[in-house]
Amino acid sequence: MTRRAGRSLLQLPGPTNVPDAVLRALAEPTLDHRGVVFEGIARSVIADVGEVFGTTSPVAIFPASGTGGWEAALVNTLSPGDRVLTCETGFFAAAWTRVAKALGLIVDVIQTDWRRPVDPAAIADALRADIARSIRAVLIVHNETSTGTTSDVAAIRAAMDGARHPALLLVDTVSSLGAMPVEHDAWRVDVTVSASQKGLMLPPGLALLAISQTARTAKLSATLPRSYWDWDPMLAAAGTGAFPYTPASNMIVGLRTSLDLLAAEGMGNVFARHRRHGAMARAAVEHWGLTLLCADPAARSEAVTAVLLPEGIADTAVRRGLLDNFGVTIGGGLGLLKDRCLRIGHLGDVDDLMIISTLAALELELPRHGVDLAPGGVQAAMAVVAAHGMVTAAS
Ligand SMILES: Cc1ncc(COP(=O)(O)O)c(C=O)c1O
Repeated sequence: MTRRAGRSLLQLPGPTNVPDAVLRALAEPTLDHRGVVFEGIARSVIADVGEVFGTTSPVAIFPASGTGGWEAALVNTLSPGDRVLTCETGFFAAAWTRVAKALGLIVDVIQTDWRRPVDPAAIADALRADIARSIRAVLIVHNETSTGTTSDVAAIRAAMDGARHPALLLVDTVSSLGAMPVEHDAWRVDVTVSASQKGLMLPPGLALLAISQTARTAKLSATLPRSYWDWDPMLAAAGTGAFPYTPASNMIVGLRTSLDLLAAEGMGNVFARHRRHGAMARAAVEHWGLTLLCADPAARSEAVTAVLLPEGIADTAVRRGLLDNFGVTIGGGLGLLKDRCLRIGHLGDVDDLMIISTLAALELELPRHGVDLAPGGVQAAMAVVAAHGMVTAAS
C-alpha cells in the first residue's frame, strides 16, 4: 500500500479522538496503584468527575467498557425475576435489554421504529398500568448512538413522577457525557452509566457510574449475584483512592488530564461546540437532500448525526471509500440499520475544521457511489460556523 500523506480523521461516534495531552498522560510510566501518588490522583479524579455527571455523589469507576457499566447498574440494584421497563430507541437500547434478560430480569419493551426518542407519555402509561408496582426500574439510553437521537431524561423523570411510580431510573449516557448536559442530580437519575471513549476523550477502558442514594439503598435488598461489579468497594475509593482490584491506572491518570481539558474549555463552551457541530452536520445533510434518520427535529443529537442512505447503497462501500480516499473514518449502520445509514460522529476533541473536512470528504465520496446530492453542503455547514461568530485573537 502506498503511503497516504496528512492526518487521518476519526469521526466515529466513539471511540473518539484522544487529545495529544491525554495521549502523553497515558504514556506516563505506570504507577504503583497502591501507592500514595496514584491514590492521590484517583481521589482527585473521583472528586472532579462528578461535575461532568452533574452530581455531588461519588462516582464508581470500573475497568470496563460501557457494557460492563450496564451490568453493574443492574446487578447492584435488582434481583432475579425483577421486571424492568425499557424503550427500544435503537441498537444500544436493544443491547442493554439483552444484558438485562441474560441476567434473569423480565423486560417490558416499548418499541419504536428507531427514528425517534423515548416518548415520556408511553413510559407514564406503562407505569400507570403497572397497578401492582412490580416494575423495578426504567432503563433509558439518553443519546442513542445508533440513530443520532437524544431523549429528554428530565421529561421521562417527570412522567415517572406523574405516574407516582417508585421504579428506579437507570440512564445510559455513554455517548452524551462530556458532550451535552447530563444532570444526574437535577434529573434525579438513580444510576447514570457512562464510558471513557466518547465525550471524555479517552480510549475505551473505563465504565463510570454515578449512583443516587436511592440506588444505594436499593442495593441492600438486591440479590442478583455480583462480585467484580459490586459498586461498594469502588465507591470506597472516593475516600481512599484505593481500588478493590487493579484499576486501569494509566486510564485514570489520563482521565485527570481529560477533566482538566474540559474544565479549561469550560463545560458551557464544550456543550456549545457540540451543538454547533450537530447543526453543521445537519445543515450539510439537509442541503444535500439526504434524509436524517432521526425523524424528530427536536431530538436530533449533538454528538452524532445518522443519515439514511438511498436504497441499494451500502454504507460499508461508502465508509471504505472515505477511508481509502480521504483518511476519514465515520460510523455505519448497526443492527436493523446495517447497510442503511452513515453516522457522522461529532463528539469529543473535535473542531470546526475537522467537521468541515469530514463533510467535504462525504460530499466528494457519496456521488462516486451513485448518491445524487446537491453540491454545497459544506458551504451550508460553513454558514453555520459564520453565524455563530468567530473567536478572534482579540476576543
Ligand atoms: C449509547 C451506548 N451505550 C452503550 C454502548 C456500549 O458501550 P461499549 O461498547 O463501551 O461496551 C455504546 C457503545 O458505543 C453506546 O454508544
